Amino acid sequence: MDVLVERDVFVVARAAANLVQAYLGAAPAPTLGLATGGSVEELYRELVLRCRQGRLDFAGTRAFLLDEYVGLGRRHPQRYSNVIVSRLAKHVGLGPHRIHAPDGDAGDLAEECSRYEDLVCRAGVGLQILGIGRNGHLAFNEPGSALESRTRVVELTEVTRADNARFFPSPEDVPRRAITQGLATIRQAARLLVLVTGSSKARAVRAALEGPVTSDVPASVLQLHPRATVLLDPPAARLTRFGRRSRLLGGS
Ligand code: GLP
Repeated sequence: MDVLVERDVFVVARAAANLVQAYLGAAPAPTLGLATGGSVEELYRELVLRCRQGRLDFAGTRAFLLDEYVGLGRRHPQRYSNVIVSRLAKHVGLGPHRIHAPDGDAGDLAEECSRYEDLVCRAGVGLQILGIGRNGHLAFNEPGSALESRTRVVELTEVTRADNARFFPSPEDVPRRAITQGLATIRQAARLLVLVTGSSKARAVRAALEGPVTSDVPASVLQLHPRATVLLDPPAARLTRFGRRSRLLGGS
């Protein structure tokens, strides 16, 4: 696992964008795994900017979302497939037929999970973008998720619902369930790119990077991946040896 501590969220986003740009430039048929949430907002802004400047091209790229709320309704602005369109896809020429997501409004959710699992496995994600939750979750794999889990319906914890309440008019509007790629599904991606910023993530980062690999901390599975790059800002890194090293070298 490569762990890099960058100066701030903007440098984290630019470093991540460099890796995405290199991947899209090199892969003949890129398959990009996309996360949603605050951690990736600056990255997506940077990718849109580079696209407008002609430095980056999503031609031929297919995108696969990590997760989706259950039951929000297909037109809801916080539905992750809609968030991805408004934050990234529509600005970079990534048409709807090239964006894939689990359908949280499908009639048969179990069938939908197995359809999506098959689709992701057949496509083979080349570069998976990820964030980490404050409780150590990865996508919507909450603590207790099996390390070998696959795409399935999960109950969201109150911590996650409270964290995501900022995106909804009121906390009760946050769905109680979601569909998420499993921890084994995510690990199948050829390369993982993880962005974590902010002091509130420091304990989760320490547990994920330096603690045991355990389903109590789903993000600890990152340690099992042969090609994972983790980009942190100093507040997120502060409880790890990487944070201490960056302070010694003159970082914050
Ligand atoms: C969210 C998403 C994840 C995201 C994580 C961190 O709920 N389901 O894909 O990576 O939790 O969220 P944020 O980046 O908003 O802190």
